[in-house]
Amino acid sequence: MSQATKILRPDAPGLAEAAALLRAGRLVAFPTETVYGLGADARNGQAVAGIYAAKGRPSFNPLIVHLADPEEARRYVRWNDAAEILASAFWPGPLTLVLPLRAGHGLSSLVTAGLDSLALRVPEHENARRLLKAFDGPLAAPSANPSGRISATSAAHVLTGLDGKIAAILDDGPCTVGLESTIIGLTGSRPSLLRAGGLPPEALEAALGAAPDVVSGAEIIAPGQLQSHYAPAAAVRLDAQVARKGEALLGFGHMDCTLNLSPGGDLTEAAANLFEYLHRLDALQKPIAVAPIPDHGLGRAINDRLRRAAAPR
Ligand code: TXA
Ligand code: MG
Repeated sequence: MSQATKILRPDAPGLAEAAALLRAGRLVAFPTETVYGLGADARNGQAVAGIYAAKGRPSFNPLIVHLADPEEARRYVRWNDAAEILASAFWPGPLTLVLPLRAGHGLSSLVTAGLDSLALRVPEHENARRLLKAFDGPLAAPSANPSGRISATSAAHVLTGLDGKIAAILDDGPCTVGLESTIIGLTGSRPSLLRAGGLPPEALEAALGAAPDVVSGAEIIAPGQLQSHYAPAAAVRLDAQVARKGEALLGFGHMDCTLNLSPGGDLTEAAANLFEYLHRLDALQKPIAVAPIPDHGLGRAINDRLRRAAAPR
C-alpha cells in the first residue's frame, strides 16, 4: 500500500495532526536532537509491525521507546541506581538506557523483539517533546531510514528513503547533534556501552565515575552493532589524505576536498554534518574517500559510524 507522505509543520495544527495519525496506528517521522525517528504507538502491534515493514528491518532488531518524561520510565522497566544517576545527568538528551523489562508494561512484544530488556530515551528536542505530550504515550522510533542505510538528519533525507511508505513527516529542519543516541546497557552488574553516540564519552565517564564496559559486536544483536550499517550506496574508503581518481573526498579540518565536515576542526560541527554530507556525496554516485577524524569526544561515535559505512557488505 503506497500513498503520498504528508509533510507537517511543527506548529499546533501540525503537531495535533501528527499525534492523531499516531493514535490511529499510522507511522510519523519526527525530529529529535540526534536524528529523525520513525514513530509508531509502542502499544500497538500492528503499528510497530509497520515500522519494520517500512524500513525493511530484520524483525529481530528491537526498537527504542521514546517518553516525554523521565518519570514514565518506571512503568516499563525495573529502575536501578545507575539508571537514576544517568537519567538525572543526561535526560532529556542523546542517551538511551537499556533496562530489564517490567511485567505488565503494555508494550507490543515487537518493540523488544522478544528480549526481556527495553531501550528507553527521553529526547530533548522541543518539538519531539511537544509531539510526545500531544500523543500522550510511548513512541517506538528507530532512525527514519531504510534498514542499513544512512540515518536521516533532515525531512528531505526521510523522504528520500521512505516516501510513500509512511503517513507523515513532522519537518523541523536539520538535527542539531546529528549522531544517534549513546546506548548504555544497565541489565548486568556493570554499565556497558552498547553504542557510542551523541553524548561525548568523557561526560558519560564523569557521571559514572569510570568508563562503561565496551561490549563487542558479536555479543549483541543491535543492528547499529552490525559491521555494515549506515552505508551509502557508494564504496567508502577511510583515512584518506587525498582523493584518488574518480573519488569524492569528505574532509575534516583545513584541506582541499569535495565537502568538509568542519574546516575549523570542530567535532560537534562534524557530527551535525556527517549524515547530511554522506547523503550529498552518495548522490554524486562516486566512491567516497574520508579524511582521518580525531578519535576523542564525538569523534569516537563519528569514527564508529564511518567504520560501519566502509565495512564490506
Ligand atoms: O538517537 C537515536 O537513538 C535514534 C532517535 C530516533 O531516537 N533512534 C535510533 O534507533 O537510532 P535505531 O533503531 O536506529 O537504533 C536503536 C538501537 C539498535 O541498534 C537496537 O538494536 C538497539 O538500539 N536496541 C534497542 N533495544 C535494545 C535492547 N533491549 N537491548 C540492546 N539493544 C537494543
Ligand atoms: Mg538506525
